Amino acid sequence: MNRNCITKEWLKEELDFVVKKILENKREFFEKVPAAASIEQRYPAEDNTYWTASFWVGMLFLAKEYMESNELDEIIASQMNQFKKRLDENIELNTHDIGFLYSLSSVADYRVTGNEAAKEMAVEAADKLMTRYHPKAKIIQAWGDLDDPEQQGRIIIDCNMNLPLLYFASQVTGDDKYKDAAYAHGKQAAKYIIRPDDSTYHTYYMDTVSGEPKYGKTAQGYSDDSCWARGQAWGIYGFTLSYLYTGDTSFLDAASRLADYFIAHLPKDKVCYWDLIFTSGEEERDSSAAAIAVCGLLELSKQLPLSNPKKDRYNRVAAEILVSLANNYTTKNTLASNGILLHAVYSKPDNKGVDECNIWGDYFYLEALMRMYKSWYPYW
Ligand code: GLY
Repeated sequence: MNRNCITKEWLKEELDFVVKKILENKREFFEKVPAAASIEQRYPAEDNTYWTASFWVGMLFLAKEYMESNELDEIIASQMNQFKKRLDENIELNTHDIGFLYSLSSVADYRVTGNEAAKEMAVEAADKLMTRYHPKAKIIQAWGDLDDPEQQGRIIIDCNMNLPLLYFASQVTGDDKYKDAAYAHGKQAAKYIIRPDDSTYHTYYMDTVSGEPKYGKTAQGYSDDSCWARGQAWGIYGFTLSYLYTGDTSFLDAASRLADYFIAHLPKDKVCYWDLIFTSGEEERDSSAAAIAVCGLLELSKQLPLSNPKKDRYNRVAAEILVSLANNYTTKNTLASNGILLHAVYSKPDNKGVDECNIWGDYFYLEALMRMYKSWYPYW
């Protein structure tokens, strides 16, 4: 088989590899979840308390859809119980990542199985996320207590992926308050997080009393004025999703500008470095950012009109990145690993998960394969 050309057979082979790994990992992560990052290419098991807990159950739903069987139902039920417990007992939910957590668990469950209780759980999670909305600044605060001076009014680009939970809640309840907050946040993020050259800040501070913008600052990027690769990828995908739910074409335009910047800063093999300031050399790649970007580019391309010449270009680049990941970044030849994608970086400035697998990289790699394999309805 030609490994540089994506065919149905190629995709099936790649999907079979990922699903085999998931089945191998089933027993270890039945109630617990893989940690955010591997240690020497192996994920330890941990309780469902961190922002990354839903990527595993998201992978289980994707695998269930691919396999078209009930083989994973028991483990999915066990995982969903943990998400219910976490919400009921309010365990470590003082974060905007409630969106990541309950989109890939409750919303996915509702979309895949039609489970009404999962829909209710998603709305309850959206209510919790709404408590982080600052009406004056029109933003959802990312981290920490709302009155914590270090974190007050701080938005981060990743939040674009948390907004779909709010859009979903408005869709299923008919109450626009969730959508209005998500839309307002999306507009503020587009205005302040995107720089004039179409790169992005990782984080940006808003004044919650006056509502005025303050300044941008990095958390996981190389410097305050560099462009953290994963942030740019979250932006491509996240702004596209805000377009999908609102029809506001300024979001599509924002996603497209971010995509062009991202593509212009790719190295030869198309898998980005952890910060887009690097385009060659010894710094680490972030394969997870590459996998997120593939999904974002595919959704962006899908949303663009046929008359837009970038429609084909984004599909083509997405395929090039995916082929490069499949050929050189997976654990196919690293048998001791329980992860899927090698060479990701969680946070270089914190020396966390550097050149390891990380669990969202694995999730988005599988989502990217599914998007290419069949007509797939997003959990976002
Ligand atoms: N959302 C946090 C990260 O991408 O590391």
